[in-house]
Amino acid sequence: WWNHLENLVGKEMLIEHKEAWPSSHEFFGDMMIVRIDDSIEKYASKIAQAKLLSHPFIRLVLSDGGVLGELRIRDLKPIGARKDTELYFENIPSELTNTKVSVKESGRYISCDPQVAYYSTKLQTERLETLRFAKELRKDLNRPLAVCDPFCGVGPALSTLIAEEGLVERILACDLNAAAVELLFENLQRWDKREYPNESAPIEQYYNDRIVGLADATELYNNPDISGKWDLVLVNLPHRTIEFLPKLIPLLNRSNVSLIRGRVIVAESDIPSANEKINQILPSIAVGKSKPELKIKRDYSSTLRLCSFEAWIEKDTT
Ligand SMILES: C[S@@+](CC[C@H](N)C(=O)[O-])C[C@H]1O[C@@H](n2cnc3c(N)ncnc32)[C@H](O)[C@@H]1O
Repeated sequence: WWNHLENLVGKEMLIEHKEAWPSSHEFFGDMMIVRIDDSIEKYASKIAQAKLLSHPFIRLVLSDGGVLGELRIRDLKPIGARKDTELYFENIPSELTNTKVSVKESGRYISCDPQVAYYSTKLQTERLETLRFAKELRKDLNRPLAVCDPFCGVGPALSTLIAEEGLVERILACDLNAAAVELLFENLQRWDKREYPNESAPIEQYYNDRIVGLADATELYNNPDISGKWDLVLVNLPHRTIEFLPKLIPLLNRSNVSLIRGRVIVAESDIPSANEKINQILPSIAVGKSKPELKIKRDYSSTLRLCSFEAWIEKDTT
């Protein structure tokens, strides 16, 4: 990529913006997503060209303007595309700009469309860590788990858990984004080998062991068929996790030990106070398990850190 870029922008420009050029990128099937620094925005087409030349199987290059709004959708702009031997950087033909693709993760296909629903390939290690904790909980409870993923997006966390034989029995999967729910149905149909609707629909019990659909996670606790029923609750809305915790804790099945796995975005300097807050909100921690503590996973910005925690909640004896 560097050689192609140098040929396109010249050695001088290459050196002048050395730190800014996007050497990393994210693959989504036959698409590539790159973050382009404001200082080199005017070279977007050249960047796309260099990326397309160095990755001959890529059809579409998109520039990533960041994740926006409550539905956490990426602001994506097509900056280059390929059809056979032809490359396009302006007036890209619409048949090349389709962003719905299937991505293989941990041996399973996940349908996703980063233009309409959140999905990140970078969270794969996080999902494997969740799998490890789920297995530990399964061992402690000595039975398959009831798992609630109320901010599930297109369902990638569930894919990893369902794939593990005998780990999960019941699932609740919902999201506020209709486009994510439509893709979730498609994914569950593939993973479960059972029928789901073709379009997004409000949350409903489709099978004895599957409650799926469009819902506001913060209202689930009002539903007596849903609250108090889940061994593992995933909280993946990192900018609001702490705020929403009080409305998610009632979802836990407190007749035994249960687990919350959450992600939080916080300034590094605020981590100690965030830890204090989390521990204040949560019920008692299970005997023999460590107190929940934010672990930094990666930088979110120059000051903010993306962290995760796991909280093993003691059974309620009252
Ligand atoms: C950071 S994404 C995580 C998606 C998925 N868990 C994953 O790992 O790919 C957060 C998701 O929460 C959804 N969301 C935001 N507010 C919500 C709410 N109040 N209830 C349910 N889902 C919500 C968004 O639409 C988005 O899909």
